[in-house]
Amino acid sequence: MEKMWSGRFQEGASSLLDAFNASIMFDRRLYKEDIEGSVAHARMLQKQNIITSEECDAIVKGLAQVLSEIENGTFEWRIADEDLHMAIEKRLTVLIGEAGGKLHTARSRNDQVAVDFRRYVIRKNTDIARLIKSLMEVLVSIAEKHTETLIPGMTHLQHAQPINFAFHLLAYAAMFERDIERFKQSARRNNISPLGCAALAGTPHNIDRDMTARTLGFEGVSINCLDTVSDRDFALEILFNIATMMMHISRLSEELVLWSSYEFGFIELSDAYATGSSIMPQKKNPDVPELLRGKTGRVNGNLMSLLTVMKGLPLAYNKDTQEDKEGVFDSIDTAELSLEILREALATMQVKTDAMQRACKVGHLSATDLADYLVAHCNVPFRTAHFITGKAVARAEALGIDVSDLSFEELQRIDERIDESVMPKLQLQHSMNARTSQGGTATVRTLEQLIHFEHYLQELEL
Ligand code: ARG
Repeated sequence: MEKMWSGRFQEGASSLLDAFNASIMFDRRLYKEDIEGSVAHARMLQKQNIITSEECDAIVKGLAQVLSEIENGTFEWRIADEDLHMAIEKRLTVLIGEAGGKLHTARSRNDQVAVDFRRYVIRKNTDIARLIKSLMEVLVSIAEKHTETLIPGMTHLQHAQPINFAFHLLAYAAMFERDIERFKQSARRNNISPLGCAALAGTPHNIDRDMTARTLGFEGVSINCLDTVSDRDFALEILFNIATMMMHISRLSEELVLWSSYEFGFIELSDAYATGSSIMPQKKNPDVPELLRGKTGRVNGNLMSLLTVMKGLPLAYNKDTQEDKEGVFDSIDTAELSLEILREALATMQVKTDAMQRACKVGHLSATDLADYLVAHCNVPFRTAHFITGKAVARAEALGIDVSDLSFEELQRIDERIDESVMPKLQLQHSMNARTSQGGTATVRTLEQLIHFEHYLQELEL
């Protein structure tokens, strides 16, 4: 089959070249952006008197026909056409004849692909931000029910201090708020039009880049054509945004895996989001959070591979850049599916507050409160208070009880400055509610955080 660029060639292409060089198998996903870009370009060419209005009408009508063929599945995608840009133009020319050949005036596939891919990525930044928003809504609605539910707050995965479950969930809401902002900012920052940059240097035709930019929803026109045709920062940004978001999802998933184990027993995933074992009949495995954790690997890989593709490229467009798409598509698909399934798994999981409460009774979670009491009530330097509290913990260990269950007599034997007012301070609920500093876990502070996120979600426009 004759290639569109075959004018200067004498020999036909090897079939290996087709398989190796083509991007049509994956860039066909950009058909809508491509056709919209072509319509905008044709209308501009007509307004600038570069093509006639008859030619423009024929092009626009022909492209509408191509669009419907693609959408109803009758369009023939052929590897020999190399990429979607040439496949569509070729079909257009079959449909409308010579006018089809005028569409590519003042345009190159280099600015064309930059327009298509950039617009797709910008749209996906917003789609993903919307999905994060629904995930946050679920997190917040679970949090609303658990501002008093105690769980052990941990550092080093060791029991540290009592916190409430809402506070724990809202830590993830904070991560997801940052993610949403990152996706929004990327969509805004990259919303400039490459159309009209042509191959690399602009064009001698009297084009109107502002007009096509406006029609396609861009906020402006790029500043330097040489940069624009080979700029893939927008693709790297969405890859980074997804990698960071998946890292957050992975951390939450790790906790879901731990929490659904017998050792923790803090949650039970709904049967719809867990799987069984082919050999062990008793098993209920948390495959969904495990896979979410695992899929973080591939999105990290996609970011690394595009950074590597881009790092040594001389200006301007190089075919290496065609390697930008599959990883981005894969990361976007992974992110969208992950966000949806995580939202459902969270919405349907059972929270086991008894197990959480029980877990708080081990590990001397209120030990810091005893030290804080000695500082505030007995004017003991914190270092000394820390040492005295260590003795109390050792005594509780020897008795096989939690520090919060030590009797007043035991405490006084450890340090006689301790009086009875210490007793409520060691209670776990009290300990949690004592942490009233800004951003702390006390229920009053958690409620403030809840209000922040509820308000954020309400006001968020995407
Ligand atoms: N399929 C190509 C890509 O995705 C389109 C641009 C090709 N440009 C060129 N001069 N060969 O990058």
